[in-house]
Amino acid sequence: MSAPKFDAVSSAFAPDAVGKPLRIRGWVLRSRSSGGILFLLLRDRTGSVQVTGRRDALGDATFDAVEHTQVEGALAVEGIVAEDRRAPGGRELRAQAVTVVHAGEPFPIFAEQTEEFRLDKRHLVIRSQDHVATYRVKAELLRACREFLDREEVLETTPPVLSGNAAEGGSEAFQIDYFGRPGYLSQTAQLYLEALLVPHERVYALTPSFRAEKSRTPRHLTEYLHLEVELAWCDLEGLIGFIERMVESVVHTVAERRPRELEALGRPPAELLAIRAPFPRVRYDAAIERLAGQGFPVHYGSDLGTAEERALTLESPVPVFVTHFPRELKAFYMLRSESDPRTVEATDLLSPEGYGEMVGASCRETDLARLEGRMREVGAPVSEYEWYLDLRRHGSVPHAGFGLGIERLLRWMLRREHIRDTTPFPRTPARHTP
Ligand code: 4AD
Ligand code: MG
Repeated sequence: MSAPKFDAVSSAFAPDAVGKPLRIRGWVLRSRSSGGILFLLLRDRTGSVQVTGRRDALGDATFDAVEHTQVEGALAVEGIVAEDRRAPGGRELRAQAVTVVHAGEPFPIFAEQTEEFRLDKRHLVIRSQDHVATYRVKAELLRACREFLDREEVLETTPPVLSGNAAEGGSEAFQIDYFGRPGYLSQTAQLYLEALLVPHERVYALTPSFRAEKSRTPRHLTEYLHLEVELAWCDLEGLIGFIERMVESVVHTVAERRPRELEALGRPPAELLAIRAPFPRVRYDAAIERLAGQGFPVHYGSDLGTAEERALTLESPVPVFVTHFPRELKAFYMLRSESDPRTVEATDLLSPEGYGEMVGASCRETDLARLEGRMREVGAPVSEYEWYLDLRRHGSVPHAGFGLGIERLLRWMLRREHIRDTTPFPRTPARHTP
């Protein structure tokens, strides 16, 4: 015997549904009974609908069992769709038969619980409408990124997340015991993408990156989703153009495909559709001058903190590129600028309104001797990077790339106060469970 077919809850709202039988299943959002009638709100992935059940129609045993089913308990319902002005959306399902799939225990999540408690119960909290909408937007964002990169003929590749090298900087890498030898959780796939670049010319990877920073800020996770792109024959101008086209494209695609979720999350899609490239650019030295003029305690060589990034983006409705950082502030693999050898051909893309850096990008050093020299200067263990240096021995060509933090981009798109609300099970210095 084959299992009975179920309808989507949303089909109760189809134009011709009234008067027709429907068989649905899902979870109880709300439940009450009065005068021998049960009023339930039943939810599945497509939405929710009011279900009413009369004691005389269901029989005492079923009526009592459904009445005792808890919020977030699970039911299967057969009934007839009817119009009812008092029901949400103007329709209800009048139940003829109900099966209790799981009566459940009292659901422990309420409004006004402490954030700590809600993080302890994250596995249940992610059923809330905010979380549901957020992860649908996130899925759309990932799809939009992949579609954009596919159109640009950038190949998706699968670099490892476990490595014997700590690529971005040893102190921020999580070290693990790899069968008695040191291993690291990846901070970036960049070096592997540079290797994959040569046969494919344009490659990307979407992998988790890990940062062992004890930064308790609203924009740091210890594990985040990292979209990294590496492009052959690309200079800083080409790189900036690529990044701004990508950001504009994915933001617009999400706004077009998820308007209901965006509205529900308080971010009208029209605001996102107004984000248009080209984005403003400011050189690091000009940025420092401007900030010093505004009274910030910065000088040439200072790193840009949250307050500085905020000041630089406050008046811009769109993201801002900061370019040509002093080389001391940046990683060893970045290409030195010919126009100003104190600087590197690099750019950070800052989100508007102080949401902070969403992209880190640079042209890569292609010359073996200069790259080795730079590694010695910063104290990188040259012998462990022999494989990477090999790339500068065999067909080293101009290339550039970037890394985009998916949760950073989403945080700005959704204007979330904390980055942890862009990911179902956030990893921060304070917690790695549930
Ligand atoms: O600027 P980052 O450190 O650059 C790199 O790792 C390069 N190797 C990427 C590349 O060129 N392939 O990190 C890139 C981006 C940042 O701009 C930010 O969006 C995000 O990764 N990011 C974080 N997101 C959440 N939590 C953290 N702790 C993050 N650290 C970086
Ligand atoms: Mg960076």
